[in-house]
This record gives sequence, structure tokens and C-alpha cells, in this order.
Amino acid sequence: MKKLYIGTNTKMYKNRAETVEYICALQAELKLHPEELEVFIIPSFTSLESAQRALPGSRIILGAQNMGWEESGPYTGEISPLMLIETGVTLVEIGHSERRHILGETDEQVNRKVCCALRNQLKVLLCIGETAREKQDKRTEEILAGQLVKGLMGVKEEQVPELMIAYEPVWAIGENGVQPEYQYVEKSHGSIRNILVSMFGGRGREIPVLYGGSVNADNAEGLIGLPEIDGLFIGRSAWDASGFGRIIRSVYRCWKEDNTRN
Ligand code: PGA
Repeated sequence: MKKLYIGTNTKMYKNRAETVEYICALQAELKLHPEELEVFIIPSFTSLESAQRALPGSRIILGAQNMGWEESGPYTGEISPLMLIETGVTLVEIGHSERRHILGETDEQVNRKVCCALRNQLKVLLCIGETAREKQDKRTEEILAGQLVKGLMGVKEEQVPELMIAYEPVWAIGENGVQPEYQYVEKSHGSIRNILVSMFGGRGREIPVLYGGSVNADNAEGLIGLPEIDGLFIGRSAWDASGFGRIIRSVYRCWKEDNTRN
């Protein structure tokens, strides 16, 4: 079944009580939650357990923002996939641009985390994207190919169903982010699909590729109408549950119309 994916990462915002309140409000917004719509929430580590308790019977998927690259060991400050699984997490976000560019995460570290998550049956949301400088130097495709090839090294074809990619141009993310042009986003998504197919053959077409970076109520419908965009990964515009609920409903409606037509 073709699916639509919409999710948010609340970064280092929302404490435990705020996360629970947000999740409860979002569940009320999503009373109608069709099977072809996958919604995921990625709160802070310390909110995970409470978030999980607020989700019984819900189809909202719970994810973590990062993970260590071993199951256990002398890694002070890191969190093991097994510890995440204990909290009810089924998805882990790896390689967000803030981790790469502020916290110095390398493609090699990203790859170790991806492999560790997959061997522990966690789903992976791998984030990739070029900086403003790389865009200006017309290196976007080369950067995306490098991040995908290095980040997914050693991933086997049968692990493809556990993968999702978020294309998030660094220049489009956050307060100072620049609104993306549809044409540019479309071209990048086309490149990503070609790279995935060159890596995994026909199975590369099965990997959902989401767009993220300054998505909001005004551009979400336009973005989801572009070819090769299977979903949206949203920051600021998703942190108010009713606003996020509105975006989810309008995007789903557009997506459904497009899919019924085609
Ligand atoms: P934004 O964040 O939607 O607030 O630009 C996106 C992200 O960091 O994933």
C-alpha cells in the first residue's frame, strides 16, 4: 500500500509534561487516522517513556532523535538502541543537520548508527541535505550522493523496508531558513531517487523520501504534490498540535486526490 508519511522532531524543546499534552492534543486532532497515513513524533529522550504511555491504542509512531552506535559499552552520554526499544520507540532519526553541523557528526558515525539501529530492528529516518555553500557551488547532487552512499554503506536489500530518508537542505531549516523553491526540491528528490535505485535496484523505489525544512501551512500542499515526495518532516510548524493537525489533514486530502487521479 502506498503511504503518506508526516512527522515532527521537537528538538530540544518541550519537556515531559509539554510533550504529553502535545501528544494528547494531536491524538484528538487525528481522530480519523487512515491506514495509509503514517504520523510520527520524535520528542526528547526524557519524554519518551511518558509519551509512550500517552499513546495506547494510537497509530502515532514514536521515534528518538539520536542513538549510540553500539548495543552497550563504555560510551558515556550515549543511549543504546536496546534502551530506546525499552521505552517503546520503533523509529530513530539519524544524521539531522544540527547533529552533523553543530555537534560534528560524520558520515562514518551516521553509518555506524544506521547499521546498529537496523540490526536491532529499529526503523531508521536518515537525514541528508546540502549547506547553502554547497548549493551555491552547485554540489547538491554530489553531496546527497555522498551522504547516502556513506550513510547506508553495508545496508542490505532486505533492510530497505526499515528505511526512510528525509531530505532537509541545511539552508532551509529553522528560524533563519529560506523557503525552498519547488523546482529545486523536485530536482533534489529526483536525484535522491536515482541514487537509491543505483544502490538498491528496484527496491530503491520503495524507500519513502520525505522533505523537511521550513515546511508550513502555506507550502505543505504544494510540496506534497511534487513527484518523488512521499511525506513531510516538519519542525516549527508542527509544534502546535492544532496547526499540525490542520497541515496533516490538508496534505492528506491533496495526496489522496493525486493518488486517486493517477
Ligand atoms: P523547520 O525544521 O521545519 O523548523 O525548518 C525542520 C527540521 O529541523 O527538521
